[in-house]
Amino acid sequence: MKQFINKILLVAKILIGFNLIALKYIFHLRRFVSACADAYSAASNAVSYELDRIPRISLDAILGDRQASINIRLVKYEDGMLPHNDLIVLLAILVAESPDEVLEIGTFMGHTTRQMAENLKKSIIHTVDLPENFSLQNSIGQLPKDDVHIIERRVVGREFKGQECNSRIIQHFADTARWDFNSAGHPTFFFIDGSHNYEYCKNDSEKCFNLCNEKGIFLWHDCDERHPGVVKFVLEWRKKGRDVRRIFNTNMAYWKSF
Ligand SMILES: C[S@@+](CC[C@H](N)C(=O)[O-])C[C@H]1O[C@@H](n2cnc3c(N)ncnc32)[C@H](O)[C@@H]1O
Repeated sequence: MKQFINKILLVAKILIGFNLIALKYIFHLRRFVSACADAYSAASNAVSYELDRIPRISLDAILGDRQASINIRLVKYEDGMLPHNDLIVLLAILVAESPDEVLEIGTFMGHTTRQMAENLKKSIIHTVDLPENFSLQNSIGQLPKDDVHIIERRVVGREFKGQECNSRIIQHFADTARWDFNSAGHPTFFFIDGSHNYEYCKNDSEKCFNLCNEKGIFLWHDCDERHPGVVKFVLEWRKKGRDVRRIFNTNMAYWKSF
């Protein structure tokens, strides 16, 4: 029965997604079907449409005449950490701005925390993650959580523990919905990469914005099709006149408020 329904849905997608360019595959049935189905998906993907409403900016345009020499350790990728191409862009902006204090929301294993600390030799890096003994059962009544598999696997700060830079890293443990952001000092550079649903993205961003008296540099990770909450939040800030942009060739959004 399920197979039958799937077949009906596919035929419906092909009929709705039919487009003239797909005709070039008319004698290759599989490719024809896939061209129509792809057109259907592209046209019906609301997040992708919303994402396209966020204008983009290049790293070149962000850096302007500034040069940023960064040191980067390329380590084996593990699910949940920042991909290398995003990391390079983040570090370049970080070094060009050279803030005295940074706040990262979402430490995870501490890959990015460590690389930020190693690239800013005199700065303090605050980073916050859920308590190590956090369990989803005890979080009922709080804001909705996502990335459950990542939360369960994390060894918070594993990458910087015991490293020289550790002395300039301040690890905070809290759920950011209930955290007093004032305990993170006076950061002016924010990397927002905790929970990626709308409620948390809004909570974290607004609290960071207040913490720096509305004068800060903000980077959000996962501003993409898979995270509609981040996209929705960014569009909301843009409506307020805040010129948040997606950075070309990354999954990050960027805004310098001053
Ligand atoms: C995608 S990972 C962060 C990756 C890290 N920034 C990096 O670049 O390697 C998201 C992290 O946010 C944490 N997190 C999720 N919800 C949170 C919350 N409500 N408060 C604090 N941390 C949270 C998760 O435990 C997880 O470690």
